[in-house]
Amino acid sequence: MTKLPASGAAAGRLADLLSRETGQTLSEARRWRIETSLRPLLRAHGLHTLDDLICAIDRDPAGPLKAEAVDAMLNHESSFFRDLAVFHALETVVLPRLASTIADRRLRIWCAGCSTGQEAYSLAMVVKRTPALEGWTVSIEASDVSALAIAKAKQGRYSQMDMQRGLPISELLRWFQPVGKEWQVADELRQMVTFRQDNILQARRACGPFDLILCRNVLFYFPEAQRQQACSELALRARPGTHLVLGAGEMLGAETGFTACRDLSCIYAAQPASGPSTLVRRAQTQAPLPPHPPLS
Ligand SMILES: C[S@@+](CC[C@H](N)C(=O)[O-])C[C@H]1O[C@@H](n2cnc3c(N)ncnc32)[C@H](O)[C@@H]1O
Repeated sequence: MTKLPASGAAAGRLADLLSRETGQTLSEARRWRIETSLRPLLRAHGLHTLDDLICAIDRDPAGPLKAEAVDAMLNHESSFFRDLAVFHALETVVLPRLASTIADRRLRIWCAGCSTGQEAYSLAMVVKRTPALEGWTVSIEASDVSALAIAKAKQGRYSQMDMQRGLPISELLRWFQPVGKEWQVADELRQMVTFRQDNILQARRACGPFDLILCRNVLFYFPEAQRQQACSELALRARPGTHLVLGAGEMLGAETGFTACRDLSCIYAAQPASGPSTLVRRAQTQAPLPPHPPLS
């Protein structure tokens, strides 16, 4: 008879699975999260322990349970206008600045690690109220490794609790309709955003370059090698002058090709190709990007 793995070992194997599939690490100190986050999945599948889950995944490695387990272990924490100061800086400084430097009145934005969509829709609301972008074609691509998060984001339907976390009442009244106990985001905003499942660690070179990239609260749990890889992926989809927004507490070194904007917390700008050695320049050498009007 096969010996079942001990639950400590099961937690370790599940953490390894998460790391293999998404690059996210759960240190020993944070392993307690595994059991908590997987409890609903265990219940839904009639499983009792993490050991049972490991055995079920091993029995059917190509089945959906593996992806469901990975999804459940990801941290999808998000809210509308999370970190209000950043959205204020986008509205008052970054978007007007980009608008003044792009000739063809097309703005391309990428939300990498968008979770359940609140970040992308908050950005869409900010775009709509930015006078400098009136009449512009603005597209927001939003991606996340989690299929479940993307499905919810596409649906654009949020609970009362979600609405109470950061969404100003004026924006609620303007952009949401009540549907039963939930709130549905308006089609006008949904049409601005394209959601897709995508792992930031695997290049999709066809997309970009983007003028503005948000990658907030995603890099934090990558170990160094994956962080570097993610930065290369961001750089591949940037052009000189692209602005990159990170989460509070996340930082990039100059070698990544992005330098911190003075006076704008959490916001970086991609360096020009003629600047010091940068990932942006290397990325451009490796994979030429479609033309885009240069910043003056
Ligand atoms: C903490 S949430 C942050 C959501 C949003 N950016 C915000 O700040 O409100 C992190 C998101 O990153 C996603 N994520 C983690 N690893 C990823 C990867 N390798 N590729 C793409 N998304 C990833 C997770 O699924 C999760 O939805």
